[in-house]
Amino acid sequence: MSSVEALFLIQLLSKVQDKSSFSCGVEALDRYLKQQASQDIKRHLAQVFVVVPKERPQTIAGFYTLSATSMQAVSMPEELARKFPRYPLPAALIGCLAVAEYFQSQGLGKILLADALKRIVAVRQSIGMFAAIVEAKDEKAKQFYIKFGFTSFHDQPLRLFLPLETVQRAE
Ligand SMILES: CC(C)(COP(=O)(O)OP(=O)(O)OC[C@H]1O[C@@H](n2cnc3c(N)ncnc32)[C@H](O)[C@@H]1OP(=O)(O)O)[C@@H](O)C(=O)NCCC(=O)NCCS
Repeated sequence: MSSVEALFLIQLLSKVQDKSSFSCGVEALDRYLKQQASQDIKRHLAQVFVVVPKERPQTIAGFYTLSATSMQAVSMPEELARKFPRYPLPAALIGCLAVAEYFQSQGLGKILLADALKRIVAVRQSIGMFAAIVEAKDEKAKQFYIKFGFTSFHDQPLRLFLPLETVQRAE
């Protein structure tokens, strides 16, 4: 466990944490957390995980969402696409991932991404799951995911995937 990891906890979003002051620099992600996340949890459309400082557990330092989705093999680079069937492949979507501006550049984005991938790989014991998918909000966010091994779909440049074999091999 890194020294940063030791100072934070990752939990499900609940009424305990304060969503109102969260600000990551991307308005759409702030709005999602404040206005939509609780509804999505209630309707089982997404699970929302937050990272909080152990000393101030009501403060949301970052969050990510997980949902089931599917993807088309033909959207992957040709060399990989030809190894898979033409019907939709099961995948897990990390729909949003954000760190509050005050907490950025301390390693929390990496910790959240690793936590999301760990949970997705665990689900894979019970349900077929080919890849993790992320939706980058812009080119800068895309570069963050590329750094961790994600590849763009050629027909949706801000949507990226990571085959879970890659994650399990790295464990
Ligand atoms: C992108 C974001 C999640 C990164 O979180 P963070 O906590 O600042 O990132 P970390 O400190 O964990 O950085 C981990 C590594 O990624 C690198 N990194 C961070 N942001 C990066 C970016 N945009 N492009 C490329 N690399 C990036 C860091 O330099 C660091 O590299 P290192 O491990 O070699 O030192 C955060 O900046 C954020 O929430 N931005 C606004 C919302 C957003 O763009 N979300 C992305 C999904 S839409």
